[in-house]
Amino acid sequence: MRVAVFGSTGGVGRHFVKQALEKGVAVTALVRSPGKLADLPQGLTLVPGDISDEDAVYYTVAGANAVVCALGAPLQDKSGIRATGTAQIIRAMKDACVDRLVCLSSIGAGDSYKLIPAHYKYLLGPLMMENMFADHEAQEAEITASGLDWIIARPGPYRDGERTGTYAHGLSSKALDRKLKFRINRADVADFLIRQLSDNTYLHKPAWLTS
Ligand SMILES: NC(=O)c1ccc[n+]([C@@H]2O[C@H](COP(=O)([O-])OP(=O)(O)OC[C@H]3O[C@@H](n4cnc5c(N)ncnc54)[C@H](OP(=O)(O)O)[C@@H]3O)[C@@H](O)[C@H]2O)c1
Repeated sequence: MRVAVFGSTGGVGRHFVKQALEKGVAVTALVRSPGKLADLPQGLTLVPGDISDEDAVYYTVAGANAVVCALGAPLQDKSGIRATGTAQIIRAMKDACVDRLVCLSSIGAGDSYKLIPAHYKYLLGPLMMENMFADHEAQEAEITASGLDWIIARPGPYRDGERTGTYAHGLSSKALDRKLKFRINRADVADFLIRQLSDNTYLHKPAWLTS
C-alpha cells in the first residue's frame, strides 16, 4: 500500500509517517522543509512544496491507495489553510483517481461540539479556538461534499506519550462516557489514522477519539 500524507512534519503527521513505515506502508509526503523528516527510515518519498502548489499536490497523491491529511496551523492563524489545503487535495485526488481520504479534524467541530467540556465551550473556545474550529468546519464541509470515500477523525486535545492502542472512539451522536479522559496521545491519533486506511467502520462518518 502507498499513502500520500499532508502535514507529515507536524505533531501527529510525524508519528503517522513513522508508524506507517514500520508497518511496511510506503509513504509519499509533501513537505515544505524536507530536512524535518531526514531521520526517518527508508520507504519515504518526499515531494518538496507547499499545499498551494497544485502540481506538487497532484504529484504527491498520484499512484497512492489512500491520502491522509494532518494539516494544521497555530491557533491564532486565520489563513484557513486546513480548508483550502484540503480542497486542493480533493481536486488532486479526483484528477489522479484516488478515492480514500482520511482527515484529521478536531473534537468540537460540527455535531461533536456538544461533547466538549464546559471550559472549552465557554472559555478556551471563544478566547483561543474560534479560528481553528471555523477552519475545521470549512474543511469538513469540503470533505463531506467531495464524493470521495472519506473518514474524518475528531481527536481530543493532544499530549505526548507512547502509542497505547487502547484509546476510545465513537460517533458524535453518542454521549462521551464520563470516565473517558479527554486528551489523547499524538501517537494514538496516528495509530487511529493508520487503522482508517483499511477499516470501513467510519466510512462517510466523523469519529471522535479520546483516551
Ligand atoms: N493540538 C491539539 O490538541 C489538537 C487537537 C485536536 C485536533 N487538532 C488538529 O489536528 C491537526 C494536526 O495537528 P498537529 O498539532 O499535528 O499539527 P502541527 O504540528 O501544527 O503541524 C501542521 C502540519 O501542517 C503542515 N502545513 C501547514 N501549512 C502548510 C502549507 N501551507 N503547506 C504544506 N504543509 C503545511 C506543517 O508543515 P511545516 O512543518 O512545514 O510547518 C505541518 O506538517 C490540526 O489541524 C489541528 O487543528 C489539534
